Amino acid sequence: MDIIKFIEEEVEDKCKGENNVFGYGIWSHHIVIVVKYAKLLAKEIEADVEIVEIASLLHDYAGIKDYSKHEEHHIYGSIEAERMLKKLDYPNDKIEKVKDCIVSHRGSIQKEKNSKEAICVANADAMAHIENIPSLLYFAYCKKGLGIDEGAEWVSKKIKRSWNKLSDEGKTLIYDKYKNAQKMLNIALK
Ligand SMILES: [Fe+2]
Ligand SMILES: [Fe+2]
Repeated sequence: MDIIKFIEEEVEDKCKGENNVFGYGIWSHHIVIVVKYAKLLAKEIEADVEIVEIASLLHDYAGIKDYSKHEEHHIYGSIEAERMLKKLDYPNDKIEKVKDCIVSHRGSIQKEKNSKEAICVANADAMAHIENIPSLLYFAYCKKGLGIDEGAEWVSKKIKRSWNKLSDEGKTLIYDKYKNAQKMLNIALK
């Protein structure tokens, strides 16, 4: 059985579910992008690509399944991952590595990133925000109800915070997109 295919289908299915308050976009415009960048980084810094891909697919899973778990989704997510991967007979030492990536993926949680794999997932999570300006603008204008300039400023600050969390490898991979986004947002502010 292809474990990654199974997990992909499971996560995408939950993203389509009624309980997912983020909408299907969290799959198409976030998880898929996190997976892409995490795998690129893994190749760059010689991390384990399989661990990185599984952890990226599952990193926000707990909050997608059940919004009441969103605040602590890094902790619930690692518990869910363990449960799922044990059922799939995934080796225990690898399960621990996946769990570590999920627990430490949040930039706002100042938890030590213990492994190369955890660095890849946390970086890719921040990179996905920088890549996905339309979703952030949508959130600023439609969900937060901000005005044109305020919304642009909010997005500009948000991606700056994401940028500041990145490792040098992450910054190199996304530099052009970051600079272009900031240029566009600054024009919007004038
Ligand atoms: Fe997250
Ligand atoms: Fe995320």
